[in-house]
Amino acid sequence: MLNQLILFSLLVLTFGCLALAYEPKPLQDFCVADPNSSVKVNGVTCKNPMQVQADDFFFSGLHLRGNTSNPLGSRVTPVFATQLPGINTLGISMVRIDYAPWGLNPPHTHPRATEILTVLEGSLQVGFVTSNPGNRFITKVLQKGDVFVFPVGLVHFQRNIGKGYAVVIAALSSQNPGAITIANSVFGANPPIPRDILAKAFQVDTSVVDQLQAKF
Ligand SMILES: *[C@@H]1O[C@H](CO)[C@@H](O)[C@H](O)[C@H]1NC(C)=O
Ligand SMILES: *[C@@H]1O[C@H](CO)[C@@H](O)[C@H](O)[C@H]1NC(C)=O
Repeated sequence: MLNQLILFSLLVLTFGCLALAYEPKPLQDFCVADPNSSVKVNGVTCKNPMQVQADDFFFSGLHLRGNTSNPLGSRVTPVFATQLPGINTLGISMVRIDYAPWGLNPPHTHPRATEILTVLEGSLQVGFVTSNPGNRFITKVLQKGDVFVFPVGLVHFQRNIGKGYAVVIAALSSQNPGAITIANSVFGANPPIPRDILAKAFQVDTSVVDQLQAKF
């Protein structure tokens, strides 16, 4: 009896925590986002279900190549709740990522989502880093048809290592995964993080910090 009680408590603890760590389970068939509502909730309020149309569950455009003419040579085309209102409350979303030759989707994290991607064209080096204190770098070269997963919250990147162009489709376990690009958030904060803080954190001279902040 005592053993069963302990087992039950462990199960409640384990699965109770898991449920809290991810987006809440929907309490209805759908909750199509109503972008016009002024009510602030966790997510977006629901459109009247009687006014919901097939187009609320539809997005067109992932056949289009993203514009990679930028310093990084990559472009993310998102399909989040903003682009596809029917995704609201469902805990899922999708992106297309295009890469010019040697294009980089720079180190970043998704605070709310695990990401799984598959390569449609090209060859990519991908990687992520485990959390402190190990900070183990886990990396792999992917070819067309390969699938790789980036666990929630970890810093990760993809780089095109082919001579040609590369494209992936990725799914994320949030309707609004969020993205924190490391370089931008650290050196491009607005207003800036004080340079002496960054100089100490990165163990470099403040002039190096000035140089980096000027770039973002
Ligand atoms: C939001 O408001 C705009 C302008 O009034 C309207 O055209 C649009 O259909 C509304 N969207 C929804 C989902 O109700
Ligand atoms: C791609 O982006 C660049 C830089 O913003 C811009 O100059 C160019 O016109 C864009 N190309 C297309 C096809 O939209």
